[in-house]
Amino acid sequence: MEKRIIGIYFSATDTTRKYVKSFAEAWSKDIDIEINLADNLSAQLPDITSEDLVIVAAPVYGGRLPSQVSSRLKELKGNQAKVIAMVVYGNRDYDDALLELTDILSDADFEVIGAGAFIGQHSIFPKVASSRPDNKDLSALSNFANECLRVIETDKKGELKIKGNRPYKKAVGVPLHPSGDPEVCNRCGKCVEKCPVYAIKVEEPYLSDDSICISCGRCIYVCPKHTRRYSGLKYKMIGSVFTAAFSKRKEAEFNVI
Ligand SMILES: Cc1cc2nc3c(=O)[nH]c(=O)nc-3n(C[C@H](O)[C@H](O)[C@H](O)COP(=O)(O)O)c2cc1C
Repeated sequence: MEKRIIGIYFSATDTTRKYVKSFAEAWSKDIDIEINLADNLSAQLPDITSEDLVIVAAPVYGGRLPSQVSSRLKELKGNQAKVIAMVVYGNRDYDDALLELTDILSDADFEVIGAGAFIGQHSIFPKVASSRPDNKDLSALSNFANECLRVIETDKKGELKIKGNRPYKKAVGVPLHPSGDPEVCNRCGKCVEKCPVYAIKVEEPYLSDDSICISCGRCIYVCPKHTRRYSGLKYKMIGSVFTAAFSKRKEAEFNVI
């Protein structure tokens, strides 16, 4: 397969990134053009031709795509290229996120040949789906990649069946935001630089602007002093209820045309 592989995704804490990378590995392919919108939400999107194979992936936030991500993806021009759509969620539910993603890609003139929802450690409540993806998840991903490859090689046409409803469920933010301890923070500025929505000020890097923060957890993930975290009574209370309710293991769901 000599086609160009393009990976476009948003991954704040690298779980979605791991799935995209592993998908290409299952094809024994390198990704020729890779864009993580969490590195730069304003990143220039590539010109896509009908000959390209594109992988588009995003984490599920509140049963939807993160709104900043969906608005960027709507700018894509698929030019009839084949695309694989993936969402990654933290074992609660993916609700309407995969339907939303495949709708955006179809509207952008892609041919969506496969769609899947995969599970990753919950980035707000890490006891949920902890250490996922594991070998079983990666083996499911590899099966999905092989099924997609078969569709490409046979140029099969068909329809996908995706779980979800239209109109999509209402997007709601999470009322929890990370912060750090000013005594531990060494003001290195990593979180300021890496926050995709610029919610952290260089003067007070141990705080977040809660009106801007999307709770993606990237500041926690990149903090070399490990001082950024979710904390407080509200977090503990929501966390224990959430962990009790959503710890029963879910498995990947995917289908191809
Ligand atoms: C703001 C926010 C909302 C989330 N909403 C959901 C959700 O609705 N359902 C779910 O199962 N997981 C949810 N998660 C968990 C993420 O989808 C999951 O941790 C994902 O693997 C994060 O991907 P990343 O590591 O690529 O950033 C949410 C996480 C965040 C930060």
